[in-house]
Amino acid sequence: MALDLKKAFVPPPYKIKAIEPLYTLSHAERERAIQSAHYNTFLLPSSDVYMDLLTDSGTAAMSDYQWAGLMMGDEAYAGSLNFDHLEEAVRDVFGYRYIVPTHQGRGAEHILSKILIHSGDVIPGNMYFTTTKLHQELAGGTFSDVIIDEAHDSLSDHPFKGNVDLKKCEALVQKYTTQKIPYINLQACVNMAGGQPFSLENLKALREFSNRYQIKIILDATRVVENAHFIKVREKGYEAWPIVSIVREICSLTDGCFMSAKKDALVNIGGFLAMNDEYFFTEAKALVVIFEGLHTYGGLAGRDLEAMARGLYEATCDDRFVAHRIQQVEEFGKKLMQRDIPIVKPIGGHAVFIDAKRFLPHLSQDLFPAQALAAEIYVESGIRSMERGVVSSGRDKITGENIYPKLELVRLTIPRRVYTQEHFEYATQAIHEVYLRRNAIKGLQMTFEPKQLRFFQAHFQPIS
Ligand code: F0G
Repeated sequence: MALDLKKAFVPPPYKIKAIEPLYTLSHAERERAIQSAHYNTFLLPSSDVYMDLLTDSGTAAMSDYQWAGLMMGDEAYAGSLNFDHLEEAVRDVFGYRYIVPTHQGRGAEHILSKILIHSGDVIPGNMYFTTTKLHQELAGGTFSDVIIDEAHDSLSDHPFKGNVDLKKCEALVQKYTTQKIPYINLQACVNMAGGQPFSLENLKALREFSNRYQIKIILDATRVVENAHFIKVREKGYEAWPIVSIVREICSLTDGCFMSAKKDALVNIGGFLAMNDEYFFTEAKALVVIFEGLHTYGGLAGRDLEAMARGLYEATCDDRFVAHRIQQVEEFGKKLMQRDIPIVKPIGGHAVFIDAKRFLPHLSQDLFPAQALAAEIYVESGIRSMERGVVSSGRDKITGENIYPKLELVRLTIPRRVYTQEHFEYATQAIHEVYLRRNAIKGLQMTFEPKQLRFFQAHFQPIS
């Protein structure tokens, strides 16, 4: 049966073969647990969590075919057969000529930044991502946001909030010259904006711009399959295209990519850099041996490379996979909206983002409303979510001041192929309970702050 993705309800294209038991702590135990975790959901042991919506990273359920692939690991130090499979998969699905595996996305970001960025460079990007921006800064560069303004507005329902504003790019070229702009970092399904896609129309215009100025486009392909799905259902002309063709079209308009395979490639660990330029490839191979491992394993076991190769095909060769995945996220978001919970619109690809500014309007941003809300949701339900607001934004590199982003969000991130509708029904009810008593929720103060990526390890306590 041909699937009309615009109309049909998409049933799961899989069934469950193995299950993992979940335990539930009492309310009092959860109160103690969040206190011991210093009100930071990253510091909770997973055994204290009932439903883990912290991240979609490395949390997917692998298929039986991927698990079978683990037994086919060729654990040779050099020239593993599984590397050949991965190389073939990346060439087939993405179309890039060369690939360098890394242990995960940030390993690829590190190598990419070291090769392409020089001190004083400016790197335009469609909104920052935490680790990407940090690697750009560690290499001597500065991130500059060129996403369209709508992306910073949680109420705008622009269908392609991940689009790049070419006027902002042009202004950067005029200000810094092309010599200072090594590449444009184009993220698929922009994470910090709420999982929002860019359109192919926008990418084509960006390609023309970058050809004119001889600036590379590097794709953050971490969620490129989800981005391709949104193009299929929202952009005119692509309705009949298979997902894999849209992914290839996106990649063909870029000069290379890095990917955290822990998301759309359906594996628990892994990543890579891919490119067409031979010089870039040679440089990347030289660095990967220093920081990750030989260029045919990049910090991974052969079995991990195999699972990644198989995951890439699974995610792209049956359109039902991503259609069902995004439908699951969307249905959850709609359930929350029916209960008046303020969320970012349109509902994104990998997560539903609660707008903490609108949920807790009585808390100013220096009281970390999203951090406080994530802690409350945990105490109410055992559901773990993540702050994506002022804590995640960190401090200004020069002034040292807190950066107050427009978006102050709690991310409820959906692992791929893991939870069922009943889980989301439970989550909806629990978040609604928190909403009903929202006026009594107090803010937090930070009591310990790591120098970099503070959201992972910072400590907080309730204000008295
Ligand atoms: N790029 C994007 C868009 C990401 O979302 C991530 C990770 C990375 C790069 C880095 O990849 O984790 O494999 O090193 N995002 C995770 C998240 C951590 O929860 O959103 P990594």
